Order: sequence, then structure tokens, then C-alpha cells
Amino acid sequence: MKILILVGPPGSGKGTQAEFICKKFGIPQISTGDMLRAAKRAGTLDKKYLEIMDSGRLVPDEAIIELIEGRLQQPDTGGGFLLDGFPRTVPQAEALDGLLAKKGLTLNAVVQLDVPRGLLEERLVNRRTDRKTGKIYHLMYNPPPADAELEHRADDQPATVQKRQDAYEAQTAALLPYYEAKQLLRRVDGVGKPDEVTSRLEAALA
Ligand code: AP5
Repeated sequence: MKILILVGPPGSGKGTQAEFICKKFGIPQISTGDMLRAAKRAGTLDKKYLEIMDSGRLVPDEAIIELIEGRLQQPDTGGGFLLDGFPRTVPQAEALDGLLAKKGLTLNAVVQLDVPRGLLEERLVNRRTDRKTGKIYHLMYNPPPADAELEHRADDQPATVQKRQDAYEAQTAALLPYYEAKQLLRRVDGVGKPDEVTSRLEAALA
């Protein structure tokens, strides 16, 4: 049973690498960003959270913790899971500790994808996602096939990307010392070809 967290700044490759980790361990990917975007598409996301997301800020902890609490009750999480984009603040991490303790579960590792800020904007403004398959592409490094139904995320505009990076540095980077103190943190260099990063991740999780 594997319970893992992927942490890293916006555009560091969490979604790209999550696919490999989930396949390797046979566990579901739980991405709070994907869950919020699914609610947006379904028209069920509170308008105030939609505005927060589109402006590059973090949705309030209480709303996110409730979302995760509900998701962890689903039967597919019984054999472990990968959290992608959660927790993102120390209060979220503390809430997760409480949820896991209540279920008698233990966190195995927190993998940090380390990419310098200067490389991230270019990755994000050129990102496109196929709305049919959810697959992530990059217009130059990993071009989409001709039949993909491409979506450009509302928060992938340059000014919003900078706000998301600011939010990471101000609120999420504090998770690194939090998990380091618990001896759970494994740092992986996220610069290089996606396959090279996957090999480093594999070694970090061996
Ligand atoms: P979320 O959806 O979680 O976005 P994020 O953390 O900003 O991360 P991204 O999905 O943008 O990037 P990624 O690291 O997955 O990179 P990817 O693999 O796609 O959150 C969105 C918003 O929702 C937040 O701003 C917030 O408002 C809200 N939210 C979500 N969770 C929350 C929480 N817990 N608390 C509060 N609010 C929350 O790759 C990016 C691009 O780079 C792609 O084009 C890809 O092809 C390319 N790429 C990947 N790897 C490489 C590589 N090695 N080399 C070159 N290019 C690469």
C-alpha cells in the first residue's frame, strides 16, 4: 500500500509524472486542481472559488480539506493513492495527518519536483490539455496529435502564472521543511526530458 505526495511549483511536471507513478504502483491520482476543474466544467464550482483559481490564488483550506475528505472515502483509495497538488499549505498538511491517523494509514513519501522558477512560465504558457483524454502536452516538447481536443487553461496566462508561482513560494514551499522534519521528503531534479525525470523519480521511490 503506497500513500504518496507530489509537491512542486506550478509547471514542475506533477501531472506529467503522476501518470507514471500511478501506473507503477497501481494507485489512483488525486489532483485537487483536476477535481476543481471538473466541478467547474460541471457548473457545480462555487463562483468565488472559480474567481480565486482563475486569478492564480489558492482556494481556502476548509473547502479543499472537505473535498479531499470526501475523495478519500471512495473505495478506489483503499489500496493507496497519490496526492498531486494537495496539501498546499501547512494547515492542509496537518489536516491530512489527522485524516490519515483516523484511518490508521501512514504516508510513505513526499516527492518534491525541483525546477527553477525561470523555466516554469514557458512550460505553462505552451501547455495544452486534451479534454477527451486528460493528457498533458507541450506545443514544442511534446506536441499534441492532430485529433486532440485542445484546452488552454484559464490560469496559464503569463501574469496569472507569476501569481501562482508567488503563491507557491509564499504558502506551499513551507511544506518542504514540514516534511523534511518528518524524514519523508525526497527531492528530485525536475529539469531535463520527462523520461529522465521519471528515471530519477523511480530511483527516489525505490
Ligand atoms: P493545479 O491544477 O494543482 O495546478 P499547479 O499546481 O499550478 O500545477 P500545474 O497543473 O499547473 O503543473 P504541473 O506541475 O502538474 O505540470 P504539468 O505536468 O502539467 O492547481 C490549479 C489551481 O487550483 C491553483 O492555482 C489553486 O487555485 C487551485 N488549487 C488546487 N489545489 C489546491 C489546494 N490544495 N489548495 C488550494 N488551492 C488549490 O507540466 C506543465 C507543462 O510542462 C506541460 O506542458 C508539460 O508537457 C511540460 N513538461 C512537463 N515535464 C516537462 C519536462 N521535464 N521538460 C519540459 N517540459 C515539461
